[in-house]
Amino acid sequence: MTMTTSSSTSSKTLSAAASGTFKIGGDLSVNRLGFGAMRVTGKGVWGEPEDRGEALRVLRRLPELEVDFIDTADAYGPDVSEDLLAEALFPYNRGSVIATKGANTRQGPDQWAAVGRPEYLRQCVQMSLRRLKMDQIPLWQLHRIDAKVPRGEQFGIMKQMQQEGLIRHLGLSEVNVEEIKAAQQVFEVTTVQNMYNLVTRQSEAVLDYCTQQNIGFIPWFPLAAGDLARPGSILDDLSSKYGATPSQLALAWVLRRSPVMLPIPGTGKVRHLEENVAAATIELSDEDFAALDAQGQQASDKAK
Ligand SMILES: NC(=O)c1ccc[n+]([C@@H]2O[C@H](COP(=O)([O-])OP(=O)(O)OC[C@H]3O[C@@H](n4cnc5c(N)ncnc54)[C@H](OP(=O)(O)O)[C@@H]3O)[C@@H](O)[C@H]2O)c1
Repeated sequence: MTMTTSSSTSSKTLSAAASGTFKIGGDLSVNRLGFGAMRVTGKGVWGEPEDRGEALRVLRRLPELEVDFIDTADAYGPDVSEDLLAEALFPYNRGSVIATKGANTRQGPDQWAAVGRPEYLRQCVQMSLRRLKMDQIPLWQLHRIDAKVPRGEQFGIMKQMQQEGLIRHLGLSEVNVEEIKAAQQVFEVTTVQNMYNLVTRQSEAVLDYCTQQNIGFIPWFPLAAGDLARPGSILDDLSSKYGATPSQLALAWVLRRSPVMLPIPGTGKVRHLEENVAAATIELSDEDFAALDAQGQQASDKAK
């Protein structure tokens, strides 16, 4: 189903389908432009969102916009994001994929600590299943590898829970190529979620490896454009050419960068969600893509 909106993008039909599709693990087909459900929580990703009604409206708008890939984590709130997703969307649309993560514990706003002991990872999965009202999690990602626990133990319990049917597909987050290869010795790595955007390019080697292996690459913080969005800069110039905002252009660039790219921009506002979905329709010319690529890489190198 496609919908029109009464916002600034009113004249266009809005659908994440414009971003094309990707099959996670070779069998779960999703529209590539997804949604990150971290921003439907309180300040510091802690507690309830300031405007709970708007957060629920954002989540209920997702199926109307054909956004069928949603990323969350037990640590968002904690629990708040998963609880809200179930409240807004259960029973879920057939074919929609809610991906969650575990292994990050919370001590307060903006505080995160990885815990990778196998018995805790099992608790993460069991509690996510309960909160999301699912029998099987379509995609479960290890939020962080815990350096204090042998990684083989963390990968081993993931594989075991998959064999037991609690999880369909497995993914990793904030990893390098060597870590992906180590996990691939134990299970099929179907997605990798690393920070990546036009001006944050430290994960280029990981992205290239994922593209080569057909592993879904989920860039978090995909909207960032840094100084490239300043008045007089390249994105400022291209904004008038494409009739788009700098963050929409940054997202269009990310989407075009690789066919395995599954960006999950997050917001607690319907207006912003619609704006982000509209970015899926932007077709950058080869020349503009290349110019953004080069300037984004330069900005990333400078920030190192
Ligand atoms: N694996 C990991 O370690 C990890 C870490 C961080 C995040 N993530 C995941 O990645 C997702 C995205 O990351 P992110 O939230 O850090 O980055 P992001 O989606 O690039 O940016 C979100 C921020 O941009 C604002 N925003 C969104 N759309 C906008 C628009 N159209 N115009 C203006 N502002 C807009 C949001 O505020 P408003 O709410 O005001 O719109 C929010 O402050 C998260 O939701 C989460 O699922 C994963």
